[in-house]
Amino acid sequence: MAALIGILAGDGIGPEVTAEAVRVLQAIGTRHSHKFEFREGLIGGAAIDATGSAFPADTRQLCAAADAVLLGAVGGPKWSSPDAPVRPEQGLLDMRAAMAVYANLRPVVTHPSLYASSPLKPERLAGVDILVIRELTGGIYFGRKERTDTSATDVCTYSRPEIERVLRMAGRLAMQRRRKVTSVDKANVLETSRLWRSVAVELYAREFPGLQVEHLLVDAAAMHLLSRASDFDVIVTENMFGDILTDEASMLTGSLGMLPSAALGDGKQGLYEPIHGSAPDIAGQGKANPCGTILSAAMLLRHSLGLEAEAQRIETAVLAAIEGGQRTADIAVPGHAPVSTRAMGDAILSRIATG
Ligand code: IPM
Ligand code: MG
Repeated sequence: MAALIGILAGDGIGPEVTAEAVRVLQAIGTRHSHKFEFREGLIGGAAIDATGSAFPADTRQLCAAADAVLLGAVGGPKWSSPDAPVRPEQGLLDMRAAMAVYANLRPVVTHPSLYASSPLKPERLAGVDILVIRELTGGIYFGRKERTDTSATDVCTYSRPEIERVLRMAGRLAMQRRRKVTSVDKANVLETSRLWRSVAVELYAREFPGLQVEHLLVDAAAMHLLSRASDFDVIVTENMFGDILTDEASMLTGSLGMLPSAALGDGKQGLYEPIHGSAPDIAGQGKANPCGTILSAAMLLRHSLGLEAEAQRIETAVLAAIEGGQRTADIAVPGHAPVSTRAMGDAILSRIATG
């Protein structure tokens, strides 16, 4: 098949990790005779430096034209003074809104070979296979913001249709898995959460009779993620709760650097990015873990291009490389030298060639 893939490397470690993911996609293209065209665009701080905008018009056009977009990371100290007129992160939010990718799928799966990299006890990690679905284009991220010298405001708004569409996506995906959804809110305090919960109760009863539904307050959910992670199947929640809970959940898998994500809307087009940030402290040193981005490329093949076998080939290769002892510093085995970003990419590529 032929596909146009937008590559937005972004800031910090973004260029290093996306370079490895592009090599992996090229190898898959060659191996399976697909014509992937890669087109690069600017986003975040790199875009601010070049154009003054964090999401320039060229990038907006690329996002509209591409079958899928792969993004590294945005942000860094250079652009983050509290008074900065434009921020790299705003470019990412504008892009998510422009692409209307309202559901962010963040799978959290543990593997025995990475148990030692997690701060949690192995018995808490066994059998964890969670799909977190984070609402991505609404809530407090997108509400009215105001600041004066003495006060600041961030408004959180959700409409019924915004809640329904992401709950529906979660319900559909859960029906293909273990048929359980945990809806996370803060209904004891927030009006938006009370609407969220009542929509969830109604919609799941009406449209998904075979689904087991649980409602949790976000503070309790944060605790249950550590105490009984293997009980969860699909977790669906609003934008900010999903942001926070997935950083927490990444510790189950051993490292924030392992987690991929897919942002989807109503069509096939999607935005794919690791859940980690730009990690300016290690940028340019070849230390970053490219697995989250490479696994995001696998999700791209699965969700936007319908290439399930190819997606699985990448996932198998990543796991095989890790099991073979190839580890970047964040997941290194004590006593073994960590490998570089490039070497991690090489280890995965060699398994794609032979697997
Ligand atoms: C994420 C990131 C972003 C978010 C930042 C960089 C704006 O933390 O994708 O999880 O909060 O959505
Ligand atoms: Mg985050």
